[in-house]
Amino acid sequence: MNNIAIFASGNGSNFQSIVDAYKNKKLKLDKIILITNKKNCYAIQRAYENNIKNYTFVLKDYNSKEEYELDIVRTLVKEDIKWIFLAGYMMMITDVLLKKYDKKIINIHPSLLPSFKGKDAIKEALDNKVYLSGLTIHYVNHEMDAGEIIFQKQVRVYKTDNVEKLTKRIQKQEHKYYWQIIDKIIKGG
Ligand code: GRF
Repeated sequence: MNNIAIFASGNGSNFQSIVDAYKNKKLKLDKIILITNKKNCYAIQRAYENNIKNYTFVLKDYNSKEEYELDIVRTLVKEDIKWIFLAGYMMMITDVLLKKYDKKIINIHPSLLPSFKGKDAIKEALDNKVYLSGLTIHYVNHEMDAGEIIFQKQVRVYKTDNVEKLTKRIQKQEHKYYWQIIDKIIKGG
């Protein structure tokens, strides 16, 4: 069964683009579920509007990160989830999930890794006056934004750019490519 979980913490525009591709039958899946770690994030609203089952797990409701991830794993197993795609999930993945989903957790990041890891990737690209940035889709491992790279797409940075403008152009490419790479990964096994 090609069942996938998208993990998100915020706006969920990447989640939306994957759902759109699924609904348009461009991305052939048996099921998508959404996992969030923020009770009121907009991704949840998108899930409701698109009839996608969603679950929220809040770290502070647990005694440890291990228990938090164990609870997520229980849900993923119950839902028969085979792949996890992070899309703006603002938390490190730890051993519990990594062991259960070995080589089955993928992330999208708004820079050309290994440049500009972390949550301020777009601002750092601008601060460093690079003329090329972009996006990276990569496997997730113990280190932040450091797993094996699957796909990269360059995006030109202009002198007139600010965080908002560059974010918009990078995200446009994320929405175009993430579901296509998901499709390839799933078909490859
Ligand atoms: C994306 O730009 C992604 O690269 C990064 O977080 C952002 C999430 O945006 N990891 P959204 O929630 O999908 O709109």
